[in-house]
Amino acid sequence: MQRVLTSALRQNGARSSAAQSMQSRHIMSASRVNHKAGTWLPGKLGQETHLVHGGVNPEDSTGAILTPIYASSTFVQESVDTYLQKGFSYSRTNNPTVSVLEQKVADIEGGYGSVVTGTGMAATSIVMSTFLQKGDHVVITDCSYVGTNRIARVQFQKYGIDFSFVDFTNLDTIKAAMQPNTKMVFSETPANPVLSLVDVE
Ligand SMILES: Cc1ncc(COP(=O)(O)O)c(C=O)c1O
Repeated sequence: MQRVLTSALRQNGARSSAAQSMQSRHIMSASRVNHKAGTWLPGKLGQETHLVHGGVNPEDSTGAILTPIYASSTFVQESVDTYLQKGFSYSRTNNPTVSVLEQKVADIEGGYGSVVTGTGMAATSIVMSTFLQKGDHVVITDCSYVGTNRIARVQFQKYGIDFSFVDFTNLDTIKAAMQPNTKMVFSETPANPVLSLVDVE
């Protein structure tokens, strides 16, 4: 999902205010500075170390090494202009704990940033509703979680968005389905329910 979103952000970043606000959240999580506690050997981390420590830094105000769980729904908003001065306003959009998880996913995936949501279908519907509009075309796997297939056919097709459901285990089939108005290529791997694999580069 993060890969889909990252490439969608690159292609259509200025399309809508929703896209812009997702992009600014994305930049905020991507711009967090690495300041690990203690002394670290120079060079690239081994995979296991990276999985544990990627994106996780001591908390600024207390020095807590593990990321604290912030249960606050709302953060102090100094003024209308500076409501995001400390980076957060309302946990429904983002909070410091989620932000570290987003940074971790981006870090271990070697990505620019990521957006974490409460459910899988929330992620899918955010990506589709943010980056697609009437007249767009999507090449989508013919083997996906039922909710993904249904939301494409039932929810988004009626808004004039066209979907080609094709076999994603064959690269030529995906290429052949591309059209001039193709705005998104949507896959899942391993696919639910048959666990077919797509080699994502
Ligand atoms: C590939 C895939 N996408 C989306 C979903 C839906 O996730 P959620 O139930 O968290 O909305 C699932 C759930 O199993 C899934 O396997």
